[in-house]
Amino acid sequence: MSGAAGQQAVEGARPAQPEAPSDSALGGAFAYRGGQLHAEQVPLARIAEQVGTPCHVYAGGAMQATYRALAAALEGIGPPTTICYAVKANPHLAVIRGFAELGAGADVVSEGELRRALAAGVPPGRIVFAGVGKTEAEMAFALETGILQLNAESIDELKLLDAVAGRLGRSAPVALRVNPDVDARTHAKISTGKVGNKFGIDIDQVPATLELLRGLPNLRLDGLAVHIGSQLVHAEPYEAAFGRLAELAREVIGQGWALRHLDLGGGMGIPYGPAAEGGAARLPLADYVAAARRTVGRLGLPLVFEPGRYLVGNAGLLLARVIYVKQGRSKRFVILDAAMNDLIRPTLYDAWHEIVPLAEPAPDARYEPADVVGPVCESGDIFAPARPLPPLAPGDVIAILSTGAYGATMSSTYNSRLPAPEVMVRGSDSAVIKQRPDHAALMALDAVPPWLAETGGAD
Ligand code: LLP
Repeated sequence: MSGAAGQQAVEGARPAQPEAPSDSALGGAFAYRGGQLHAEQVPLARIAEQVGTPCHVYAGGAMQATYRALAAALEGIGPPTTICYAVKANPHLAVIRGFAELGAGADVVSEGELRRALAAGVPPGRIVFAGVGKTEAEMAFALETGILQLNAESIDELKLLDAVAGRLGRSAPVALRVNPDVDARTHAKISTGKVGNKFGIDIDQVPATLELLRGLPNLRLDGLAVHIGSQLVHAEPYEAAFGRLAELAREVIGQGWALRHLDLGGGMGIPYGPAAEGGAARLPLADYVAAARRTVGRLGLPLVFEPGRYLVGNAGLLLARVIYVKQGRSKRFVILDAAMNDLIRPTLYDAWHEIVPLAEPAPDARYEPADVVGPVCESGDIFAPARPLPPLAPGDVIAILSTGAYGATMSSTYNSRLPAPEVMVRGSDSAVIKQRPDHAALMALDAVPPWLAETGGAD
């Protein structure tokens, strides 16, 4: 990779055109200005200095611009649409709030996410509750809150929900999540729509499930739902899944069920890196819209979408400082102060994330391969193997790009490392939206049982 290619990936992430109903809404707002990488109008070096590294940075303005562009594009399908932001992608209150301000709903998968959506101001009537293993307590909380719908994924779940709703004297709004048996052509660990995945009710079991529903008086069937996987960069699997959903919806309506909406899930893929690495592809949004229009669009039913990554992925990055550069016998290692506990995606999915220095490399900079690694005591603690990088020295700050989705939220404190703080930028404003806790805070939830001698503590 040349220096220019590394730079392109950043410059390609220009602020989205809010009015563009196309797939151009990258939403990233990171670019070099005057030789320094900026998040919107804020120099990232300043954030690294003030907040320290590692640190997650979100371009809040870009997230909102991407939302607007997606909402405009989805209007092209025809029927009214509701975007329920998939909170799991980035559950920070400020992120959810930014979308709620624009009228978004939320897709949640736990009581914690539901509470976050409510705290961020999402109206209950715009919240859908998905997930294969909702507990009784979560169902009760969702019903008492009065959310839009619960997406049910099994017969056992329907029976339990009916019992909980009966106990509360409520009618539970339900959508059946259907497994349409479609290969999403994405990473196996995030593919969810093939028979054999744990998700949804197999499409051929839907008729029997409807029979059962007739005997569950506290459930109201409002919709059908599909979600076939995450990071989809091809429109064809969507077309196949939406086609099957449309066919099923016609049958269900034909049997007299009064469906109120169809939930098409999320999964819209974003670009992570240069084409040479196979990471430049993104879901062609225009093709996605056309696929939905040709299939479910014809039914005229209101549509619900659950995008997560698409709205936030490219609008976040992880700042890290180079601690050491080690020249081994066969390899160069760039050792960062960020690790797999801050961003697990490369370790877990072999995910490719672009890595760029904050100081713009000279046009003639020599790019040499290095393994970019963290300090955690596992060889799997690697962000990028053999990544061509410009010269880097201890103290230099780099950015790992496109970490806005499934970044901070999948982090841990493994190796007793402190969680990285989070900063949000909008235009020339920036704010710390999550502090780095101290070690005492991290230890505060631990208790030493009475049969062990007290240590006297070390604050
Ligand atoms: N709806 C449902 C029912 C889901 O299960 C998911 C994601 C979404 C919506 C949002 O999908 P998105 O638009 O963000 O692709 N940790 C993995 C991704 C896991 C996705 C799980 N479900 C990663 O880092 O790639």
